[in-house]
Amino acid sequence: MSKIKIRQLNDDDVSGYRYIRLEMLKNHPEAYADSYNNTRKQNDDFFLYRINNGAIFAAFDNNEIIATTGFFMQPHDNAKHKAMIWGLYVKPEYRGQGLSYDLLVEAIKNLPDTAKLVQLCVVEGNEAAQSTYEKAGFKIWGIEERAICVDGRYYDEKHMVKFLGR
Ligand SMILES: CC(C)(COP(=O)(O)OP(=O)(O)OC[C@H]1O[C@@H](n2cnc3c(N)ncnc32)[C@H](O)[C@@H]1OP(=O)(O)O)[C@@H](O)C(=O)NCCC(=O)NCCS
Repeated sequence: MSKIKIRQLNDDDVSGYRYIRLEMLKNHPEAYADSYNNTRKQNDDFFLYRINNGAIFAAFDNNEIIATTGFFMQPHDNAKHKAMIWGLYVKPEYRGQGLSYDLLVEAIKNLPDTAKLVQLCVVEGNEAAQSTYEKAGFKIWGIEERAICVDGRYYDEKHMVKFLGR
């Protein structure tokens, strides 16, 4: 019987991470800012940068990555107190069991002490994602019209924040 485990990705996970990242971008282009067409051209260095710029957490079923999310810290001096959550995805066959919430909690738990608040964006109408973020304590602070453009079609995004109380 398989058991799902969550852990942070490291350099050895690069090919598995590449695979699931391309899957999410191909199947849900409106949910992410980066595109499948750009990402599929990238080499390992691109994915290693993502793995090491902040952190990415994944759920594994045996050795297969079945869900991810990650965070990075804003780089500029006066914005270094802000973390950004990105890349939330659960493979279709593993949805409906709260895996995205577990990953989100794991990412927030591992934020550095320098993080005082964490932000994210969710496309309008993505109820499963928004509900997960709300359950984890995120609140909507604004709506960005035409935030995402896929094949000429625009999508609005809700911006959400969670203050970490420190
Ligand atoms: C968003 C996503 C990660 C959620 O996966 P998941 O962890 O399996 O989520 P669940 O199916 O357990 O749903 C999460 C919650 O949303 C609720 N939900 C699901 N669909 C819903 C809908 N249409 N309306 C309202 N609530 C909904 C569920 O009931 C659940 O609530 P609960 O925890 O109180 O039971 C997954 O659907 C996915 O990968 N989607 C495609 C990529 C994507 O949109 N990523 C998000 C980028 S911001």
